[in-house]
Amino acid sequence: MIIVFGLRRVGKSSLIRAVLNEYVPNNYFYIDLRRFEESGYVSYRDFVKALEDAINARSRSRRLLSILSRIRGVGINGFRVSLSWGRDRVMLAEVLDSIDEWAGDEGLRAIIVFDEAQELVKARGFGILPVLAYTYDNLRNMTLIITGSEFRVFTRFLKLDDPESPLFGRAYIDITLKPFTREQAIEFLRRGFEEHGINFDRAEQAYEEFGGNPGWLTYFGYRALRVGFDEALSETRREAVNLIRREVCNFIGEGRYLAERRYLRILETCINGCRWSDVKKSLEALEGRELNNSIIDSLIKALLDYSLLVKEGNKYILPDKLMRDAVVGLRCLANSVNSGNA
Ligand SMILES: Nc1ncnc2c1ncn2[C@@H]1O[C@H](COP(=O)(O)OP(=O)(O)OP(=O)(O)O)[C@@H](O)[C@H]1O
Ligand SMILES: [Mg+2]
Repeated sequence: MIIVFGLRRVGKSSLIRAVLNEYVPNNYFYIDLRRFEESGYVSYRDFVKALEDAINARSRSRRLLSILSRIRGVGINGFRVSLSWGRDRVMLAEVLDSIDEWAGDEGLRAIIVFDEAQELVKARGFGILPVLAYTYDNLRNMTLIITGSEFRVFTRFLKLDDPESPLFGRAYIDITLKPFTREQAIEFLRRGFEEHGINFDRAEQAYEEFGGNPGWLTYFGYRALRVGFDEALSETRREAVNLIRREVCNFIGEGRYLAERRYLRILETCINGCRWSDVKKSLEALEGRELNNSIIDSLIKALLDYSLLVKEGNKYILPDKLMRDAVVGLRCLANSVNSGNA
């Protein structure tokens, strides 16, 4: 099991697709769960459809189709698989068994990607974790790749360190994607514009604005070719700040009023850098009482884990200018994002 973490737009999906296309183009199955972002819940039918799409996007293998055709709830039509969710519903574990058997026969490793896995927290009427645990424990020809950007929901979903979780204690490889460095970001923009015959000399300025997140640099470059540099700069900033605000509010969690006030207070305190003692002082002023050091530690650690805060020497600071812009005046109100000056 491989888990890929990283902030929004940092390139998780691109990295996974690029690597799989290059090394194992025919034996991976990519389940894109982003499609459930707007839904309140995910039914068995929804998930089975997503799995069906993932298989159909890949499978040109007669052999895989013939193995799949032996299980209940699977129909084959030409090169297309259809999985039923109704009375004769297909069992997920049986589908995975078949894929594993196929991979074993072919001497391959089958790879199943769950992109934006945290959406499966919303699964209703079925559990995905037992299926993942079953796969992990029994299917020797299979690798699971799991990504997610919402770290907390995500650890709440997989719960690898919760003894109650089916996945408890399973080992995994953890890949955390970081934004480009300053040099990489500038080179990335320079070469991108060069491909369009443009000699771009304002990459420094773009980096100052957006930091090294490839998603924002790409968005900026794409828009700059269409609406010009200045307009693209403000458009990208607006988009990014909105998305980051949603992310921060997701992280803080809807309805957790005390946590919200505390996290936002820390982020505000650390906009231009802060020490541990500044955080403590500021939270104590907010709440009008003394706070235990371990509370301060755990709040700071959560922000560091999620890269909303970074450590530089003995100071904490927001990772980039977009984050600073996003935090100013931010209020998260039960699942909706609101801001004093937006
Ligand atoms: N290493 C890279 N080189 C060039 N472009 C990249 C790279 N990584 C990502 N991109 C571009 O950045 C954008 C965002 O990437 P991607 O969608 O993979 O990020 P993500 O982390 O999956 O985002 P999200 O959190 O929204 O799912 C894409 O348009 C992609 O083309
Ligand atoms: Mg993605």
